Amino acid sequence: MKKQAVVIVGAGSTHTPGIIQSLLQKKNEFPLRKLVMYDIDSKRMHLVYDIMKQFIYQEYPELEVIVTTDKEKAYTDIDFVFAQIRQGGLSMRSTDEKIPLKYDVVGQETCGPGGSISYGIRSITGVVELIKDARRYSPKCWILNYSNPAAVVAEATRREFNNERILNICDMPTAILLSFTKMLGLKNWQELDPCYFGLNHFGWFTELYDKDGVDRLPELREMILEKGMAVSDKHHQDPDWNKTWKQYVEIVKDYPEFLPNSYLQYYLYSKEMAQHMDQNWTRADMVINGREKEMFAEHTKYLENPESYESPIQDFTVFGDFIVDAASSIAYNKGERFLVIVENNGAIPNLPADAMVEVPAYIRSWGPEPISRPAISTFYKGLIENQVASEKLAVDAYYEKSYEKALQAIAINKTVPSTTIAKQILDDLIEANGDFWPELH
Ligand code: G6P
Ligand code: MN
Repeated sequence: MKKQAVVIVGAGSTHTPGIIQSLLQKKNEFPLRKLVMYDIDSKRMHLVYDIMKQFIYQEYPELEVIVTTDKEKAYTDIDFVFAQIRQGGLSMRSTDEKIPLKYDVVGQETCGPGGSISYGIRSITGVVELIKDARRYSPKCWILNYSNPAAVVAEATRREFNNERILNICDMPTAILLSFTKMLGLKNWQELDPCYFGLNHFGWFTELYDKDGVDRLPELREMILEKGMAVSDKHHQDPDWNKTWKQYVEIVKDYPEFLPNSYLQYYLYSKEMAQHMDQNWTRADMVINGREKEMFAEHTKYLENPESYESPIQDFTVFGDFIVDAASSIAYNKGERFLVIVENNGAIPNLPADAMVEVPAYIRSWGPEPISRPAISTFYKGLIENQVASEKLAVDAYYEKSYEKALQAIAINKTVPSTTIAKQILDDLIEANGDFWPELH
């Protein structure tokens, strides 16, 4: 089995320990010859390295490990780039969430004006740059990209690189799938073959086949309506996420045909969502005071006694397992089936060929082979076309440096009630993003 060289870009993230853990636990499925941690924030990255190194060397005593802020070192001789950057950090996430809320519009990391548009336009520069850098030093490498907002980023990488050897992914459908399998008494998400269509953070499960070929979705729908959602991975279980799972049941009650991606709550109930959000305490604040604080506390524990410190092991990390499994499927041409973001090209026959959609695909060494499905009905088609338009307009705004396109991207978004509000939000976002955005004319 050929061994792999991996660079984690954005290695100072709170999600990095999970990725490293999966890389170590999946040593037999995806053996490493080199692990690089790369970030522009050296302090944060070293903090993550400190808390994970005991585990790394325990599993791979001989592994070449590089922790660097230098591009050339990071990308030279690499097989796989795992990208998960956050342009502007959590402080800009907070700004993205708070500005729309001033106007009673949903303030969310990846949805609405703060997500698709503000964060979208901000992210493109960083993601495109990292792909160019990676290709410069390792022309043959594969890029697996988690960087958000994935829908907008995927549209930009489609335009820039035709998504050649780039796979844009999101853990949410897989995390939901894991919950489904656990609810059915199964062990892992590979035990269900999902049929799914939509966009990133905007899709529906239509069937869920078990290994005997039985569609378990009807049974699950009844379980969800009767007992609610039982959530399985640690990340999506804190009190704020639990509100999402409560609302999930409401979506299934109102729209029982398929099982939704939880992010649809922000579009289908946007007014109530905005009303229940606190402008002074948004999700970014919760993450800073939750997941991030826990990571810093872990590092304090390390500093107290570096010699005897043992790396923390989480039960299960979908975020890490999914990216490593997908990379393994590419590296060894396994053809495993995953939910990924690809150019439509007929997979959903009555949507534009050039829309970036989220569907199941067999992952081969030459890339994803998407699974096509029957045409979708009016309700879904209408919602999706509207959202695709908003996402594509955000990317147009970036490349054309166009105020008008940015305004259209916001005004058409289902979370936004009127053009007057769209303009106010856009003007605030331009100011808040400063040099993170191109200057719009
Ligand atoms: C899910 C989504 C990610 C998103 C994350 C936010 O996992 O798939 O795209 O970044 O949720 O979670 P957080 O706990 O940071 O609000
Ligand atoms: Mn996601």
